[in-house]
Amino acid sequence: MRKIVVVGSLNMDMVFRIPAVPKRGETVMGNGFFMNAGGKGANQAVACARQGAIVRMVGSVGSDVFGDELVAELKQSGVSVDHLRRIPGTPTGTALILITGNDNRIVVAAGANGETSCGQIDLALADANPDDVYLTQMEIPYETMKYGLAAAKAKGMYTILNPAPARHLDGDVLNHVDLIIPNETEAEHITGIPIGNPRFAKECITRLIGEGVREVIITLGPDGCAYGNRTAVRFVPAYPVKVVDTTAAGDTFVGSIAVAIASGASVQDALPLANAAAALTISRLGAQCSIPDTPEIEAFLHRMEEIGR
Ligand code: RIB
Repeated sequence: MRKIVVVGSLNMDMVFRIPAVPKRGETVMGNGFFMNAGGKGANQAVACARQGAIVRMVGSVGSDVFGDELVAELKQSGVSVDHLRRIPGTPTGTALILITGNDNRIVVAAGANGETSCGQIDLALADANPDDVYLTQMEIPYETMKYGLAAAKAKGMYTILNPAPARHLDGDVLNHVDLIIPNETEAEHITGIPIGNPRFAKECITRLIGEGVREVIITLGPDGCAYGNRTAVRFVPAYPVKVVDTTAAGDTFVGSIAVAIASGASVQDALPLANAAAALTISRLGAQCSIPDTPEIEAFLHRMEEIGR
């Protein structure tokens, strides 16, 4: 198995269950609160490690108790934390997550994530092999994200960008990306193609491939995902589960795909398993605490096969 280098964020998630999103000037009483380890980068690293991959996390936390807890959580999941930096005087990243019904809304305060540097990436990639996998998102500084993709590509690594949260990407980013995995909102933001367009997924894929990306997966929530490369586009349905909390479902999906690539499988073949892993995450509350491991995913797939899904 090749190693996966994840360059991204670590956040302490503050999760509120609320009956409705408050209007301006309004206070609403929540139905529950809890904290758990999150951050798109760390969630993806944990998803990879729980599926047996060799994972190195590159990122930053503050010298505070949240930082301690996030590092401990990664270690416990088997992620290498040697390339994490502690930033004195800067708070660890936090996320406010509001859950209403089947939806969530997330606000991130980057804190120490905003200090993740190109120098850290250089150190982390010093012993990278050409067939290792590089995985990144956009809760770190844009320049660091961009630098990392170019540096990984220069090493011959397979690069994956999960462009979340969405923002404009310049051509100099996309031409260093082998696989991009946006959700629908992110795909709309990057391509300018509206979600309402009946050929939305196909047109986004064509546009992104035209920008130099080799493979594209657009995650479509309850509709599963669309995969495309230069020659074909295919849709893979989601598994039906009771939605408890969608937080980190996308991260679990992305991590599963990275593991498949690291183990030499094709992206296309990995789509059903990635959908299964995401379905399990959706069926429970929280980010890292809801990410499944391989035996659980395999048992789920077996159950689905038995009922003909
Ligand atoms: O993708 C879910 C994650 O987004 C949460 O864990 C939160 O920390 C934000 O980074």
